[in-house]
Amino acid sequence: MGLRHPLWALVNADSAAGAAPEHLLLGVDYYPDQTPEALWEEDARMMADFGFTNVRIAEFAWGLMEKSEGKFDFAWLRRSVEILHKHNIAVILGTPSAAPPPWLTVEYPEVVEVNAQGEPLHPGGRRFSCPTNKTYRRLSLAIATEMAHAFAEMPGVIGWQIDNEFTLSSCPRCYCNFCRAGFQDWLRSKYASLETLNHTWGTVFWSQTYTDFNQIPVPLPSGGDPNPGLALDYNRYQSYANASFLEEQLVMLRKTCPRHFVTTNNVGPPVDYIDLHELYKKLDFVAFDNYPGFFEMLMHEPAKGGPVPGDAIRTAVAMGHDFGRSLHGGKPFMIMEEQSGKAGQRTFSPQPEKGQLRLWTYQAIAHGAMGVNYFRWDTATFGAEQYWHGILNHDRSTSPGYEEIKQTVKELKSLGPELLRSSYASETALVFDYDCDWAVQIQPGHSALSYMNQATSWYGALSSGHTGIDVIVPGVDLAAYRIVVAPLPYLLSDAQAAKIRDFVQNGGLFISGFRLGVKTESSQIVKTPLPGLLRDVMGVTLEDYVPIYSGKPGVKFSGALAGADGECGIWADVLKPAGAEVLATYTSCAYAGKPAVTVNSFGKGKAVYLGPDLDPASLARVLRTLAASAAVKPPIETPTGIEVTVRKAGGQQWMFVLNHTAASQTVRIPKPCSDVLTGEGHSGTIELSAYGVRVLETA
Ligand code: GAL
Repeated sequence: MGLRHPLWALVNADSAAGAAPEHLLLGVDYYPDQTPEALWEEDARMMADFGFTNVRIAEFAWGLMEKSEGKFDFAWLRRSVEILHKHNIAVILGTPSAAPPPWLTVEYPEVVEVNAQGEPLHPGGRRFSCPTNKTYRRLSLAIATEMAHAFAEMPGVIGWQIDNEFTLSSCPRCYCNFCRAGFQDWLRSKYASLETLNHTWGTVFWSQTYTDFNQIPVPLPSGGDPNPGLALDYNRYQSYANASFLEEQLVMLRKTCPRHFVTTNNVGPPVDYIDLHELYKKLDFVAFDNYPGFFEMLMHEPAKGGPVPGDAIRTAVAMGHDFGRSLHGGKPFMIMEEQSGKAGQRTFSPQPEKGQLRLWTYQAIAHGAMGVNYFRWDTATFGAEQYWHGILNHDRSTSPGYEEIKQTVKELKSLGPELLRSSYASETALVFDYDCDWAVQIQPGHSALSYMNQATSWYGALSSGHTGIDVIVPGVDLAAYRIVVAPLPYLLSDAQAAKIRDFVQNGGLFISGFRLGVKTESSQIVKTPLPGLLRDVMGVTLEDYVPIYSGKPGVKFSGALAGADGECGIWADVLKPAGAEVLATYTSCAYAGKPAVTVNSFGKGKAVYLGPDLDPASLARVLRTLAASAAVKPPIETPTGIEVTVRKAGGQQWMFVLNHTAASQTVRIPKPCSDVLTGEGHSGTIELSAYGVRVLETA
């Protein structure tokens, strides 16, 4: 029977794909390749009993499917798919290119990646091969093609995950000779002539003028930093190399398996080595992996000893969800791997607190997910991930999270089709620009300055307002938004500047962080006064830009932003109004008394320049005040640690209220609503238990 309620109906909500689905895609990542065949039937029966509707399998089973070059064997995998299908569990197949088997690397040792220090990686783990290498590409495509033919018509198979986590790697970019040649080819087609390339990069500096494309190096350690234009283009090339690697398999799958969907998974966005927009562009929907507890373990700072503030984790996760959803213009996304227990390899996170596994699942749905697969069914007793705990323990007893996940799956199946078809509501967009991110990494200006940190703090500050955020890349149509914010918008192309100008002209509120428009898209510094292309829109020029290493200059707010004084962290842009109104000044540095924040009226809209790296409380207050001035108001006020999202369909609206704290909380609701999960009506206030969730239907 397969999956009765097509995923397509959700992904293409306005296509003729069929009736509204009755429930979400709820499944588990399963490893028949690592499990004795005698247990497959029991596994499938238990999964069906659990309520799961699908599995993802085989993404690391290359060695079993091709024991030596060209000798394919899918019989075992077909037996597994048959059993799963018999129990009504649909199958997503992973193509196995992330883990090339030993015969391959012995025969073709040149397929390994070379890291940023110029050292080759070694086989023995996974994700160690070069995306440009033709042999690795040929063999990856060959196994994927054989697999596709073997499963194109097999009942129960519904779709494909290409490869596994392109963004995961101790060495996310390759610097080998194949990549060098690939980079040179890519540059040939990008620049057409060496004259253009030399001019665009400014290679006359340090005598780097190229007279043949073959002379162009990759940015490996040298005596001094690489040309910033070359370094930025190299990161773009690596993105392209991975996307084109994926595309080879995609083209084949489209042809061979036209009835199946195709996606890939990744470490929760925005992991920033590869432009995910480019990677997912041609896929049917966005899928990614979500491990909040593992995140917390990684972010734990041993030197400080203390736990990471809970807000940082939930904010990073929420931003990942909003980023993933926005990659395909707001369409539903899938969590291909969701944490189900203690997570980690050498070291691992604690067991999630009671309620957290349910909470994290609802958080994904609250942000627009159409499906969640838990990682993983059983827990491996061998291999590098013996401590990445699944739904069954090592001895196949049920894990501490088993009942909670089972109950969550049951509850989620009760959500009605209207809610499932609803969209996440947002009138605010946060621009996340890979070019800015990479250019800041190449030349941060201050050793502690990070684009990702700025983007995450701005997201966190905005999200405390519960007004919904899309995390967009430049190029997205801005007309749908009332507010567009751009932290650290270091690079600005003519096209981006024109879009922002139109947006403000037509009545939008644009809020820029420091370092606006410093560089062109080729990473040259603009020759006009800063902020370059947007001086007229912002109504200011820069008096100076200042990295700060000691002390924290004060910031005094006035006018529409009047309120508690703030502090400036590691960066200050000092502004000189040319028509804009001053909303804050620096109080204690060489620039005391000089403008720090300005607002300018331009066309029907407004443009705000935030010159200082503001402390989190001031940033949140400033962004919320500005949002309110653009009539973007919170649906409800909540205590800290509560997240709220709104999903809408037609005249209906659902509010997800998520308690990320270990204490029970009371939240005031402005109007009566009904609780979708309990059927109760509420007015006045609602109670949330520790890590509790409410889904409220409001008129
Ligand atoms: C993901 C990856 C999986 C597995 C999991 C737990 O990052 O896709 O293959 O490794 O983490 O480690």
